[in-house]
Amino acid sequence: MADTAITVEGARKRYGGRNALDGLDLTVARGTVHGVLGPNGAGKTTLVRILSTLLRPDAGRVEVAGRDVVTQAYEVRLRIGLLGQHAALDEELGGRQNLEMFGRLHHLGARRARARAGELLTRFGLADTGRKPVAAYSGGMRRRLDLAASLVTEPEVLFLDEPTTGLDPRGRAEVWESVRALTGAGTTVLLTTQYLEEADQLAGRISVVDAGRVVADGTPDELKAATGGDRIDVVLRDAGHLGAAAALLPLAGVRVDPDRRLLSAPVTDRMAALSGVVRALEEAGIEAEDVVLRRPTLDEVFLHLTDRTKEAA
Ligand SMILES: Nc1ncnc2c1ncn2[C@@H]1O[C@H](COP(=O)(O)OP(=O)(O)OP(=O)(O)O)[C@@H](O)[C@H]1O
Ligand SMILES: [Mg+2]
Repeated sequence: MADTAITVEGARKRYGGRNALDGLDLTVARGTVHGVLGPNGAGKTTLVRILSTLLRPDAGRVEVAGRDVVTQAYEVRLRIGLLGQHAALDEELGGRQNLEMFGRLHHLGARRARARAGELLTRFGLADTGRKPVAAYSGGMRRRLDLAASLVTEPEVLFLDEPTTGLDPRGRAEVWESVRALTGAGTTVLLTTQYLEEADQLAGRISVVDAGRVVADGTPDELKAATGGDRIDVVLRDAGHLGAAAALLPLAGVRVDPDRRLLSAPVTDRMAALSGVVRALEEAGIEAEDVVLRRPTLDEVFLHLTDRTKEAA
């Protein structure tokens, strides 16, 4: 138990006739940030609700901080924090009052609640605005206050369900900073997101979830490598040749982007792919403007993984 903060084995949850979770497995090491990445409806919120004891799984074993979420729900609740997709702050109160109220709700006692509120406001760069009503906060400030509220009880494990959805790039960067600060403090964080860049930036490991299952798992680099490593991009001079080139190039899994006159494909042997492409184009008399080898983006990894699942289904 000591090294593992979250264990999920074969978790299932059905709504009506549909599986929201369909045998999901997940292990999160203590003190790490784990990203759960998936499209709308993949089951991310369902997973977070089960992990935070708000929802009972239909089947499977789920443990958080060494306790079973079904049979030891109260024990689990004492050790977790939750930042939901929709947070509950009092708009008319200032940030400081909101945090103090959260502390009181969690039986901290007036003095400790006040001290904790001050500490968290400083940590999240909100000390100057602590008295301003929350209604006047920017999106980024509000999310940082949400984050502070979820930390009032000093949880061992923190769940963040899409913490930056709806924020502008600046607000997003502010929240990322705050999450990074947490990991230094030893908190285990499970973060769901639809943003690949967010998972890439924050998470040491990522589970890609689609249709209630984990379809891939690993560090961002491992996931990128697992899709066939590097990619080759070929930009043609004439978009009219895209179809012909896609058919004759010695590559599998070619994607065509007519707007950019671009063919893109995963490659295993970089040099063989490069020379093969150049030769094939020359022989066919098709002019290329550019041919480059590059690392895949996490977006491509994600598209690749979720596509394959749909083909298999
Ligand atoms: N209370 C509910 N009643 C019925 N179906 C539900 C309920 N909650 C979720 N679902 C269904 O379960 C599936 C998973 O939903 P979930 O909210 O976990 O997805 P998600 O990954 O969090 O999506 P999003 O990115 O949109 O937040 C979806 O098909 C959803 O429609
Ligand atoms: Mg959700």
